[in-house]
Parts: sequence; C-alpha cells; structure tokens
Amino acid sequence: MKQLNDFRLKLGNQELVPLIVGGMGVDISATELALEACRLGGIGHISDAMTPTLTDRRYKTSYVKEKLKKYKFNVNNSDKAVVQFDLGEIAEANRLHVTKTMEAKQGSGQIYINIMEKLGMNNPKETLRARMIAAMDAGVDGITLSAGLHLGSMALVKDHPRFRDVTIGIIVSSPRALKLFLTKSARLKRLPDFVVVEGPLAGGHLGFGDDWADYDLKIITADVMKFLADEGLNIPVIPAGGIFTGTDAVEYMEMGAAAVQVATRFTVAHECGLPEKVQQEYFKANEEDIEVNLLSPTGYPMRMIKSCPATRSSIRPNCESYGYLLDRNGKCAYIDAYNREVELHPDARKVVIPDKTCLCTHMRKFQCWTCGQYTYRLKDTSHQRADGSYQILTAEHIFKDYQFSVNHEISLPERETDPVDAK
Ligand SMILES: Cc1cc2nc3c(=O)[nH]c(=O)nc-3n(C[C@H](O)[C@H](O)[C@H](O)COP(=O)(O)O)c2cc1C
Repeated sequence: MKQLNDFRLKLGNQELVPLIVGGMGVDISATELALEACRLGGIGHISDAMTPTLTDRRYKTSYVKEKLKKYKFNVNNSDKAVVQFDLGEIAEANRLHVTKTMEAKQGSGQIYINIMEKLGMNNPKETLRARMIAAMDAGVDGITLSAGLHLGSMALVKDHPRFRDVTIGIIVSSPRALKLFLTKSARLKRLPDFVVVEGPLAGGHLGFGDDWADYDLKIITADVMKFLADEGLNIPVIPAGGIFTGTDAVEYMEMGAAAVQVATRFTVAHECGLPEKVQQEYFKANEEDIEVNLLSPTGYPMRMIKSCPATRSSIRPNCESYGYLLDRNGKCAYIDAYNREVELHPDARKVVIPDKTCLCTHMRKFQCWTCGQYTYRLKDTSHQRADGSYQILTAEHIFKDYQFSVNHEISLPERETDPVDAK
C-alpha cells in the first residue's frame, strides 16, 4: 500500500515531499503555515493579497491609514478612479512580507508566493509588476500565478535578473487556459516550471462558470496531462481541490501527477491565519452549510460557508482604504450593487446588498469564510472538546497525515489535556 511519502517532487535540482499547501489570501496561508510546510520538506505558500493591510497588522506599518488620509476627500464619491496605490509602497510592503518570511525559513522545502491577477488595484499592469518584482527581489523561491489567465504576467518581469531561475507556476482549470498561457510564455522562451490544475471542489475563487459541478478534477488532470504530452512538453502537473487524504493524493501520483496542492485541511491548523473563532465555524460546518455563490465582485464563483458575515454585506465601499479589486477604470461590481441599493432605498438607515460583497473589507476582517467543498469533513480530523468546540491541530500533524496515511485513514491528534485534569 503506497504512501504519498513514497514519491518525490522534482523541480530543477530540488527533491521535495510532493505536498504543496496552496495560497490562501488574505493571510490565511500565513507565514507560519508556509514555514511549517517548508520545514517539513514540502512547499508552503504565502499570499500577496492585500499585503499593505497585512504588514500594517503584522509589522506595524501604516499604509492603510495613510492611504485613507490621502483619499478621504473621495469617500462619498462613487467614482474611485482617483484612488491609486503608490507603486513604491506596494513594493515596500511585499518586500517586507517576503523578506520576513524568507528570513525565518528552515528545512529542505520551499516558500512560494501566490499572486492573483484579479487584484487589479486600479492599475492592473503596473501594480502586478511591482508585486512580482518585489517578491523576486526579496528572495522568494517561487511564484504561483492564480485567479486569472496571466497572459501578460511573465512579460512584466522578463528583464528581472531572476526571471529564468525563480520557479514560476500557473493555476489553470482547463487545458484551454493552459494553452493560452503557454503560447504567451513560449514567446519569451520561458515555460512555467509547474502547472496546478485546480478542480471544482477547491476553496477560494473557482476557475469555472456556474456549471462548476459538471467538472471532475481527475478528468481535467488527465486532459491537461494528455495536452502536454501531445505538445511534447514535460511540465510537472499538480492537481488541487478536494484531495482530503494521503490516499487521495497517492491516486493522483499514480496517474502521473508530480505533487498535489491542498488547503482546506490546513485551515484548522494553529499556524493558519484564521482566528480560532472562525476555525470553529469551519469545523462545525455541515455539507448543507457550504455553497458556491457569485457574491465576489471579481465575477468568479466562490465557495463559502453560507452563514458568514460577507453574505449579508451592508458596508459602504472602502476603496479609499483598500481598493484591491478596482479594475483599470476604478470600477468594482460591489460599488455598483451598493449604489443601486442605496438608490432603491433612499430612506433606509442600512442597506443590505444581496448579490455582491465588499470582499476587501470582509477578507481583511476574516469575515468571508471561503472554504473547500470538504470543509464539512474537518470535524472527522480532530477531537471535539467537552464544550462542543474542536481541538485545533498543528500543521505538522496534518502534513504528516497526508505524507504517511494509507487506506484513506486520517490520524487524530493526541488529545489535549483537559485544563481541569492539568491543575
Ligand atoms: C480558505 C481558502 C482560501 C483560498 N484562497 C486562495 C487564494 O487566495 N488564491 C488562490 O490561488 N487559491 C486560493 N485557495 C485555493 C487553494 O490554494 C487550493 O488550491 C485549493 O483550495 C485546494 O483544494 P482543497 O482546499 O480542497 O485542499 C483558497 C482555498 C481556501 C480553502
């Protein structure tokens, strides 16, 4: 009976445990979580979503306060075109985030950064360039491009001295998206070093339409592998989405996957950025509590726990402080939905926006409980305490469970000592 540990991921001259903890913004795949995956010989991701807000919280910078001060005059204006990020500050924040993480790196694994194209930041091309360059300058081992087709992203950094040796991967949900990306990267003579194939059961934004349930990760993975073989390309393929046990992972490795990317099981780790109160909501969720909705202003479907505060948004758009989802014209679908409701209910003291959510504000406050489909199985991975809450796990426990489990078994952690017994 094979274990995931019987396989190795070969990237360049590196040999790694073939387990990648995927990027989870905003600071859900926190530095501490990425560092553990790396220490244990796999790959951990930090995310560069809303980095200035993250460094404000972690490292006492004051980017958000300063931005709001600068643009306060525009708060009541629904046109946000004027609210621009300072490219120097974005770079500074990203460098700080990556440097602090890389300085603490231990073990034989790697640390990558997840970079989402959909964060247009009111100037998509230049802000993305600044984010990528800063991450490379600060010594990140790799970049995983996500939430978008990234047709122009590689070209943005083609003159960077690390362009040819930093590891670069792309997340796709179809061979078609991969083909488009490869056509562009071939022109630069710089193919991606790996491809993550994300299926419909993943957390975060999904790369499908509202027909997401018609797709199956095993089939898409096989299609992507066949497409690459037909093109004569030898690029490692890494499936993601709903891989819940080590045995699930082995099934993909036996199909020819180079590694697997997982996330949901790590949302209930101590090292994960979610506050414990929110982690308990993830543990408690049943299958019927999880939905895929279109609340995200990005236009992509997103999976969430239905009861989370982000599903009843009534916040005035906060773009002067945040503004990460503003497109090149200073637009965000939440602003339109908000203005529509305010117009429809001119006398209401508080309007509820039924169809969109202010993702920046809710993510910043850990109020958007995006999750993978199998979140409802998390309760089977831990012990319930006497008060009904669940015991939080260590990232090491979860990582090793993936690495060594057989027969779809999930090893439970050692039981916490009851505080009463410990006295
Ligand atoms: C809470 C959460 C947040 C996520 N955020 C992001 C993100 O910011 N960017 C991204 O590319 N993928 C994101 N994902 C997707 C994961 O990186 C990963 O590919 C996927 O969830 C793996 O499937 P699993 O959760 O079933 O293991 C997120 C997933 C979860 C559970």
